[in-house]
Amino acid sequence: MPATIRFDGQVAVVTGAGGGLGRSHALQLAARGAKVVVNDLGAARDGTGNGLTAAENVVAEIRAAGGEAIASAASVTDPAGVQEMVDQAMREWKRIDILVNNAGFLRDKSFTKMTLDDFRAIVDVHLMGAVICTKAVWEIMKQQNYGRIVMTTSSSGLFGNFGQSNYGAAKMALVGLMQTLSLEGEKYGIRVNCLAPTAATRMTEDLMPAEVLALLTPESVTPGMLYLASRDAPTRAILCAGAGTFSRSYITLGDGVHIGERPDAVEQLVAKLDTLADRSKEIVPSAGFQQSQMEVAKALAARKQ
Ligand SMILES: NC(=O)c1ccc[n+]([C@@H]2O[C@H](COP(=O)([O-])OP(=O)(O)OC[C@H]3O[C@@H](n4cnc5c(N)ncnc54)[C@H](O)[C@@H]3O)[C@@H](O)[C@H]2O)c1
Repeated sequence: MPATIRFDGQVAVVTGAGGGLGRSHALQLAARGAKVVVNDLGAARDGTGNGLTAAENVVAEIRAAGGEAIASAASVTDPAGVQEMVDQAMREWKRIDILVNNAGFLRDKSFTKMTLDDFRAIVDVHLMGAVICTKAVWEIMKQQNYGRIVMTTSSSGLFGNFGQSNYGAAKMALVGLMQTLSLEGEKYGIRVNCLAPTAATRMTEDLMPAEVLALLTPESVTPGMLYLASRDAPTRAILCAGAGTFSRSYITLGDGVHIGERPDAVEQLVAKLDTLADRSKEIVPSAGFQQSQMEVAKALAARKQ
């Protein structure tokens, strides 16, 4: 068995952690030794009626179990509020090792019925919320020469889902953000990854039958987040997690066919669709330049023939 994964001495910020997946992430990080900033919207209540916000209730749970936590009521879409949250964590604990970008909500509609406001609201919270929080901790992590950032993407972004064009676009944008930040963060010890969860939460309770929801506990997803937030985390990974099953997803590039510049290039391309669809030589590029490298190499090879 690998050694127990612990976060002693580390500080984690989990956004949208008043309920659902974020709450499970915050509780587990704290149980494994991390000091946790539990962020959720100030107005968010968890229905217990005890006068506390959802984030404050999670903080109380962590403290009751002997852990350390503070609540933040900032909206991830508010740069000043996020900065205050980060400043508070730095005042209390002097470092931030882990950021789990988890906050968000849905505004599902078919594209026909979706307004631009519906689209922007979702891009704002999922993409820009993650950008704002990441920007606020980036310099701190650089200075520390250590950071772990987990973006919460979704199968809706990776593979598409009817009625979720706004959400899918925002969630796939987080994969793009992760791809570049993992490259830029590498020399500073910052590792950036994506988690694609499936869980029965407020977000999904109306979408699936009860017996399916019973399998999809947030707690069965959280080990995936713990791995991506751990000292031995990979970087640039997309990890799918749900009902205790974990799988990797990849953005790949096929080997390609060289056609060259010619008047009938499109007809030549159509004639080679079978070769184009051949996935046997697919690679996972280590950066965007690998596409142009492959294209130029094929063009030069064709010129030599
Ligand atoms: N549940 C799933 O099956 C599933 C699938 C794929 C991705 N996700 C993603 O996982 C993350 C967590 O979702 P969940 O299922 O636990 O839903 P949830 O609704 O239980 O939790 C999301 C939390 O984010 C908070 N939040 C919303 N806007 C915020 C803001 N502006 N600032 C701070 N907090 C805000 C909400 O108050 C809520 O507590 C989301 O990013 C979601 O898109 C969930």
